[in-house]
Amino acid sequence: MSETSSGVFICFEGIDGSGKTTHSRLITGYLRGLGFDAVYTTEPTRYSLPGRKLRESFFAPERLPVEEEFQLFLEDRKIHLKDEVIPQLKDGKTVITDRYYFSSVAYQGSRGLDWQFILDENLKVSIVPNLVLLLDLDVDEAVSRIASEREEGVNTFEKKENLQRVRDIYHKLADKFPDLFHVLNVNKPIQEVQEDIQDFIVNFLSTR
Ligand code: TMP
Repeated sequence: MSETSSGVFICFEGIDGSGKTTHSRLITGYLRGLGFDAVYTTEPTRYSLPGRKLRESFFAPERLPVEEEFQLFLEDRKIHLKDEVIPQLKDGKTVITDRYYFSSVAYQGSRGLDWQFILDENLKVSIVPNLVLLLDLDVDEAVSRIASEREEGVNTFEKKENLQRVRDIYHKLADKFPDLFHVLNVNKPIQEVQEDIQDFIVNFLSTR
């Protein structure tokens, strides 16, 4: 899908436990403090029907069949784009999204769905972001962070072997799209990671 817009669209990706939500929220606040009109959004959404179905499925004992899961993420993404991302980009905002279609490639791909198919289906309905920040963390560290941070523990999306496959696909995506992806090692304290992100994004925005 092609869409003309004057804003900047930045997407955060990474395995569960990598700190995407923390860092994408922090950078949004930081950019606003610098005077950028920055907004935070997330997928799956909390308000669409497919988004709510997905969130309910996260703690179910059985995963949804992968094709159904993929379609729900795709439907939710269309709503997210139409209701939030595209209007705000048209208004000239810097839109920071916490997950986007690369999550479908990595996660539904890790369940055996052909990842070229996932990419192609998404590109029919999505706009390509200006930048993808991949927060990269080894799986053991990610799982121990999840276990220590959440009362409910590790969910079915977050089992170690799943996350390893997800991480491997993210690396392949970063290799395939080197102009789009920036990979950051996040195996260090939050403040240091956030400073790396601030430096990188401020520089990225100033060169546009
Ligand atoms: P969150 O924990 O970042 O809110 O994401 C919820 C889960 O949804 C996470 O385990 C990754 C998964 N997910 C997919 O499997 N495919 C997708 O397309 C997206 C956006 C998320």
